[in-house]
Amino acid sequence: MSEKRLYGLAAIFDTPEKVVAAARAVAGRGFTKYDSYSSYPIHGLDSAMRLKRTRIPFVTLVAGLSGAVLLVLFTWWTNSVDFPLAIGGKPYFAWPDYVPLMFEMTVLFGAVSTVIALLVVWLKLPRNSHPLHDTEFMKKVSKDKFGICIESDDPGFNETETRRFLEDLGAESVDSVYDEPVDISLKQKVLDPKFIAAIVVVAVVSSATTYLALNKMLLIRPWSSLNAQFKVNPESRSRFYSDGIGMRPPVTGTVARGHLPDPITVSDNLAAAEKYLVNPVLPSPHVMEVGQRDFNTYCSPCHGYFADGNSRLQGQFPSPPSLHTDSLRLAPDGLYYNVITNGFQGVMPSYARQIPRKERWAIVWYIRALQKAQNPNGPEAK
Ligand code: HEC
Repeated sequence: MSEKRLYGLAAIFDTPEKVVAAARAVAGRGFTKYDSYSSYPIHGLDSAMRLKRTRIPFVTLVAGLSGAVLLVLFTWWTNSVDFPLAIGGKPYFAWPDYVPLMFEMTVLFGAVSTVIALLVVWLKLPRNSHPLHDTEFMKKVSKDKFGICIESDDPGFNETETRRFLEDLGAESVDSVYDEPVDISLKQKVLDPKFIAAIVVVAVVSSATTYLALNKMLLIRPWSSLNAQFKVNPESRSRFYSDGIGMRPPVTGTVARGHLPDPITVSDNLAAAEKYLVNPVLPSPHVMEVGQRDFNTYCSPCHGYFADGNSRLQGQFPSPPSLHTDSLRLAPDGLYYNVITNGFQGVMPSYARQIPRKERWAIVWYIRALQKAQNPNGPEAK
C-alpha cells in the first residue's frame, strides 16, 4: 500500500537555549526548508531562524480597505441611486453617518480574510494530515522539549550528513520522519447518529427559544410595553365613546384634506354637471401619458384603443358606440367626466372607485386628443 518517503530529520533538544543556537546554525548553513517547534514562544528564535516578516498584514490591509470601499459604494448607491430619501434636507449621501459602518466593515473584512488566508494559504487547509502528526517528536515538542525538523527536499539535505550535523549541535535524539500516504477513510460522517442527534437537539432548542421569546416572553411585562399603548386600533371597540365604537366618523360639515367633493355632485344634477364642470387639469405631456395609460387600461377593452367602439370583448358585452360622433365631439368635458364617474345608462359601469379624480380629467384630455387625431377638421374645430 504505502511507499515510504523520507519527509525529514527531526531533532529534539532539551533547552530553549540549545534550540535557538541550533536554529541559528541551521539557518547559517543555508537550510531554508525547516521549522522549529516549541510549546511556547521563544524570544530570539525568529531572528535566529532569519524568518522574514509575514505577509499576512497585507492581506488584512487589502481586505479591510475593500470592506470600507464596498460599504461606501453600497451606501452611496442605496441612498443616492436606488432609494433616495430626503431626510431633514440633508444630502442623500451624508457620509459622516457611515463612518461607524465603514469601521465595522473594515474590521469584519480584515478579520475574516486574515483567518481564511491563514488557514488556506499558510496552513494549506484542505490538507488535513502532516507527516509530523502523531509522532513521538510532536508529542515531545508539545510538552517539555524543543525541536527542529529539516525537510528532505531542502537542496542542502543529505541524510547522513544532516543527521551528523544535528547531532553535533547537541540534539538529544535525531529521528527520520517518513511521509506515508494515509488511507483516508471516506465514510460519510453526515449520517453518523451522534451528528444527527446533535442537529435535532440544536433545531429543537433554537426553535423553542425563538417561539417562546416571540410568542410568550414578548407578551410579559416589561417587554409587552410596546403592545400596551393608549391608542385605538382600527375597527376596535373603545369604551371611551358612548357608542363603544373606536373609529369615529368625521365631524359633520368637515372634509378631509385632499378630499374636497366635486363642486357639483354630478349624480344628482347631470345637466348642471355637464354644463358647469370645467376640466381643472392643464394638459401636459405627463397628463397625456397618464390619460393614455388609464384609457388603455380601463376604457379600451370596450371602447377600443382609438375610442372607435372596436371592443376586444367579442360580443360578451354590448359594444359601445364610437366616441367620434359629431354630438360627442361637441359635448362638454363635464359629460365625459360624468360618464366616467357615474357610468352610463346602467350599461357602462362607474369608474369612480378605480380612477382618482385628476386621472379622470386626464382621460378626458386623452379622448379629446384621439378625437382630433381621427378627424382634424371636425365640428369643434370650426
Ligand atoms: C365594460 C365596457 C365599458 C368600459 C370598460 C367603458 N365603457 Fe364607456 N360605454 C360602454 C357602453 C356599452 C356604452 C354605451 C352605453 C349606451 O349607449 O347605453 C358606453 C358609453 C360611453 C360614452 C358615451 C356616452 C354618451 O353620451 O354617448 C362615453 C363618453 C364613455 N363610454 C366613456 C368611457 C370611458 C372614458 C371609459 C374608461 C374610463 C369607458 N367608457 C369604459 C361600455 C364601456
